[in-house]
Amino acid sequence: MKGLVLAGGAGTRLRPLTYTGAKQLVPVANRPVLFYVIDNLVDAGVTDIGIIISPETGAEIQATLGDGSLFGANFTYIPQDQPKGLAHAVMIAKPYLGTDDFVMYLGDNLVGSKIRNAVSDFTLRRDTSAFLMLKEVANPTSFGVAELNDKGELIGLAEKPKVPKSNFALVGIYMFRSSIFDAIGRITPSPRGELEITDAITKLMELGGRVDCARIESWWLDTGKKDDLLLANDTLMDDWLVAANHGAVDGASKISGRVRIEEGARIERSTIRGPVVIGRNARIVDATIGPFTAIGDEVVVERSSVQHSVIMTASSIIDIALVEDSLIGKRVCVRPGAARRASLSLMVGDDCVVELSSH
Ligand code: TTP
Repeated sequence: MKGLVLAGGAGTRLRPLTYTGAKQLVPVANRPVLFYVIDNLVDAGVTDIGIIISPETGAEIQATLGDGSLFGANFTYIPQDQPKGLAHAVMIAKPYLGTDDFVMYLGDNLVGSKIRNAVSDFTLRRDTSAFLMLKEVANPTSFGVAELNDKGELIGLAEKPKVPKSNFALVGIYMFRSSIFDAIGRITPSPRGELEITDAITKLMELGGRVDCARIESWWLDTGKKDDLLLANDTLMDDWLVAANHGAVDGASKISGRVRIEEGARIERSTIRGPVVIGRNARIVDATIGPFTAIGDEVVVERSSVQHSVIMTASSIIDIALVEDSLIGKRVCVRPGAARRASLSLMVGDDCVVELSSH
């Protein structure tokens, strides 16, 4: 069984953050979303993994993930010239996938459940052509939606339907055999100009293939927008954060709840209320951090409070009374200018300076 991770695409919804970086590398609890994707595949024994990359962000993704050895896996990068659809990405991976079965996993997907059992079932059950994971959602019109019969069996699929036939959305994890290539070869681009995986699966069923599905009960989180990403950060820190102190905390600081402090981080005269993660070489001085806050590597927070926020690598927050519900990109400076001690809720892309004036 091989893996195919889709890490191309345009990432329009997370702008301005994704003007300068890949959305699959946005950190959740200080780890890029893609790392959790790879973890789940490797946990299921899938270690030969093809990774679809785009011309815009491919180099950054390769530099972050490397050759796979960090994860005990082998990565093969597969460039996709334009985001022409999920089924297009599968088609261009054909030379890599050959005749192997494979798990296709969208690189911006976070799920709380392991795929291990589903992978081993699919390997054993030779009478199925594909396997899909579903999750009940409140707003199915934004997703690929499954139509199920009384027995819970899949009878149809629709991409972002206006009138959905169920509340079950397709989670971005699919298993296929090489029969999917024939189905993709027989579909044409949708009105939005993409080769849709839902159309390919429908074609597979028309050709007589059996498609199974299972519902996941755990969380499934989108990282597409600011509030989604903050919720993902909350959920992962709640469920998976392991407390540890690899940094230096002075005697005047107070740490409570689940807090992870990475190597080289320094905490001076500050209060940290978990769940919080503080990245490598971060410096927290006369500050209050948390709860539900991820402070990236090399971030500096001085004389400020930060709660329920994600602050990415090498940004600084100086003399701000309260930063909350914020998503702040890399190398951003937030400083008071003329108006001291403001309370802020921000979404800021990389390399910005936010200076508050009194007007
Ligand atoms: P989507 O969220 O469907 O598309 P997108 O990345 O263009 O996002 P946005 O709506 O914010 O503009 O993509 C799901 C995942 O699949 C994501 O990780 C990007 C990836 N992808 C590809 O690798 N190739 C493609 O052709 C498409 C459409 C998506």
